[in-house]
Amino acid sequence: MVFNPELCRNESEVESKLIVQYLLPELGYTSDSWYQEVAVGSIRLDFLAFAAQVIPFVLDANSPLSVVMEAKHPKQNLNNHVPRLRHYLTSLNVRYGLLTNGKEIRIYQKVQDDIQLFFQCSGKDVEIKIEQIKDLIGRNSLGEKQRISQSDTQISQTPQVNIKSFTQNSYEQNKMKIIAVYHNKGGVGKTTTVVNLAAAIRKKGKRVLLIDLDSQANTTFATGLIKFDDEEFDDIKDSNVLHVLQSEEFYPILEVVRKSNFSNPEIDVVPAHINLMKNETDLNALDYSRLILIEKLEQVGDKYDVVLLDTPPSLNLYARIALIAADYLIIPSDLKPFANQGLINVKEFIKAVNGFRKQIRKLPIEILGVLACKISTNNQFIKHTLPKRIETITTRYGLDVMDTIIYERDDLAKCAEKIQLIGNMEIADPVSVLDFKRDSTSAQEFEVLAKEVLQKIGMA
Ligand SMILES: Nc1ncnc2c1ncn2[C@@H]1O[C@H](COP(=O)(O)OP(=O)(O)O)[C@@H](O)[C@H]1O
Ligand SMILES: [Mg+2]
Repeated sequence: MVFNPELCRNESEVESKLIVQYLLPELGYTSDSWYQEVAVGSIRLDFLAFAAQVIPFVLDANSPLSVVMEAKHPKQNLNNHVPRLRHYLTSLNVRYGLLTNGKEIRIYQKVQDDIQLFFQCSGKDVEIKIEQIKDLIGRNSLGEKQRISQSDTQISQTPQVNIKSFTQNSYEQNKMKIIAVYHNKGGVGKTTTVVNLAAAIRKKGKRVLLIDLDSQANTTFATGLIKFDDEEFDDIKDSNVLHVLQSEEFYPILEVVRKSNFSNPEIDVVPAHINLMKNETDLNALDYSRLILIEKLEQVGDKYDVVLLDTPPSLNLYARIALIAADYLIIPSDLKPFANQGLINVKEFIKAVNGFRKQIRKLPIEILGVLACKISTNNQFIKHTLPKRIETITTRYGLDVMDTIIYERDDLAKCAEKIQLIGNMEIADPVSVLDFKRDSTSAQEFEVLAKEVLQKIGMA
């Protein structure tokens, strides 16, 4: 089917069908690089897209190149809207403006205090002309122009204009969601949660990516990626999450992921390696180490629906990287005294991470709640002690508790320890509890958890 923007019937269809669903993705703008309904002082822009990461979020002479996009009703004559676009581009010092009513697409360029038309085509020709449009205002080519123009230093007198407020775009619900699973105490069920929740979400038809950020590599093991029993055959050390984090240029996620069949349908996993530990200091010294995962995840934004990040039981750099990149946080806890005391550290850690997120104009991480894990199935305990423990989390630590409870179940330990005999060799063959025993109580608990999580992240 040929895409025909001339069939857009009103302004909002021009916005959604032509700009959001077609032009922005075709031009390489991921959902983090454009904003809808941007307010700058008294000016209201329909769309503002950035060719480069904007940190901080300031438009000035040195700001990354950006494009204003204005959508009009198909019955509107674009000529009538040129003066306004001129006002926007010149007063905000934005170089490019796209104006469209669906039937016609125009691109203007700011030249000193005026704007000039430098591209025009009819809506129905947009697919034929898309490469040309990409060369003019695509994310990559604008980034390239920025690098060239920086060397011939044009200094503009335009005052700095801060974007005071912008509403999140309304296409949030289709966006890939990133969930970190974290507690700074070990053994509380983080890895078990990540692996089985991933399988449960995958079985609901979502495309899931799992990233192991713990040097203990338990998730890597639990997803069956460690198939060697002698380090001589270690095939993980040359391509794992450390490479993703260390290299700005190389090792995109899609090159490092491995298909894992611990779950059916299979799930993509970025493995971890014990080397993460000894490389932490070097990685810490790289300026971009805290941001690179955000960027590499953006590149796969249309490949996955949900990303789950498993973290180390510590307050180290890898945990920080996970909490900086994630949209949401689940805090598994056995609700025992040590885990509870650890929640104070977790809260302080979140506070520090949110401080950093603010600097990069990212909203604070949204806490989905403390997830009660490895909870004893003893009746008396469930009746008398458990409710008090759950209440403590809210009253003493001020954190919400998730509705789902993951009880201590033998099946959950067994499925992770499953082995396969090949000749006389024992090979680890772990599977998710849902693939181990679909009807088990434990499998059902993870299904309920998946439902709660998807609902809370707006994907149900
Ligand atoms: N709900 C549970 N029922 C039974 N065993 C569990 C449960 N959750 C975790 N375990 C076991 O407890 C140990 C620690 O769990 P794990 O998920 O690795 O914790 P963490 O990642 O927080 O260190 C593992 O051996 C795991 O199999
Ligand atoms: Mg773990």
